Amino acid sequence: MSLFNVYPLFNITPVSAKDVYVYDENNTEYLDLYGGHAVISIGHSHPTYVAAITNQVQKIGFYSNAVQNPLQIKLADKLTRLSGCQDYQLFLCNSGAEANENALKLASFHTNKSKILSFHNSFHGRTSAAVAATDNPKIVAPINAQQKVDFVALGDLEVVETILKEDKTCAVIIECIQGVGGLDESTTEFYQGLSTLCKTYNTVLIADEVQAGFGRTGDFFSFQKHKITPDIISIAKGMGNGFPIGGILIHPTIKASFGLLGTTFGGNHLACVASLAVLEVLVEEKLMQNSRMISEYFKEKSIEIFQIKNIKGRGLMLGLEFDFPIAELRKKLIHTHHIFTGSAKNPNVLRILPPLTVTKKHIDHFFEALKEELK
Ligand SMILES: Cc1ncc(COP(=O)(O)O)c(C=O)c1O
Repeated sequence: MSLFNVYPLFNITPVSAKDVYVYDENNTEYLDLYGGHAVISIGHSHPTYVAAITNQVQKIGFYSNAVQNPLQIKLADKLTRLSGCQDYQLFLCNSGAEANENALKLASFHTNKSKILSFHNSFHGRTSAAVAATDNPKIVAPINAQQKVDFVALGDLEVVETILKEDKTCAVIIECIQGVGGLDESTTEFYQGLSTLCKTYNTVLIADEVQAGFGRTGDFFSFQKHKITPDIISIAKGMGNGFPIGGILIHPTIKASFGLLGTTFGGNHLACVASLAVLEVLVEEKLMQNSRMISEYFKEKSIEIFQIKNIKGRGLMLGLEFDFPIAELRKKLIHTHHIFTGSAKNPNVLRILPPLTVTKKHIDHFFEALKEELK
């Protein structure tokens, strides 16, 4: 049987990884400034994480959501303490798309409305409603296109209000800092205005923190900079440092009832201990502080490179904007310098999404390589 050929692959085969480095079968070392697409938060194969998963699997790895699982409660408590999101309720699932899918479904149940409002250049995943709310017609199949979604320019409160006034929209879904789209972020005035409009017109505000959450931007959640209180917050990626886990934080105004949402694998024992280990290391190694500090250093270094026209994003969710497409540069960084970076929908943006354990030494290595390629 062949693999369904949907991924254009780099010809590299990682067989092991440690902290910010990935190693192939010849033991060639690659500096990982991509984090497997913003997934690796506490570093590859962190000993606390490895021990947590190893110990747990020796006891019990999985049982369904038909029985008590105290690890879910432990995770909810720890998440409350670290995120500062008091009184929210946690529903666990397995990926970012699934988190958004459940968020949108819940919004529709809660408001009894069915339209979605999303933003230009958004990315929310590849499942039914999540992909319909994603601004990329190439990945929206006819079955998904049955969902009714309005796409609005980021920052345009007037158009948002015109749409919400029609009283058909169950949810506004937004990445506070756009990931795949290319690191755009609007103003505090916009996010606060959006939150007010959602409350006025009985629309659920969903903050998609799948990529930006779990400390990546230097705050636990990227929306916290703008002092808003979303009704639902979706999480995944860095939450499990590679172990598949996602979830939604649900405001107490939205009530649960038996059977409203459900999943077989979501919140299983292994996923919970993986995420608990992530939270433990995030605190112990002060990784949110590190994210802010290294971000500043990165931005200072980038000033030295005149070809960089703009540096976008916050913390360790960064985009370097050039005035030429970066595809070739990215290939050179991987093949010549052994450095992984990311691309974006905007072809001129090189994305930097390293493990939050990255240090100045790694950033220096990246800039030396970049200078060499651009000279
Ligand atoms: C902001 C955002 N939301 C949702 C998703 C989908 O997550 P997953 O690939 O885990 O389904 C992604 C993935 O890149 C993302 O960046």
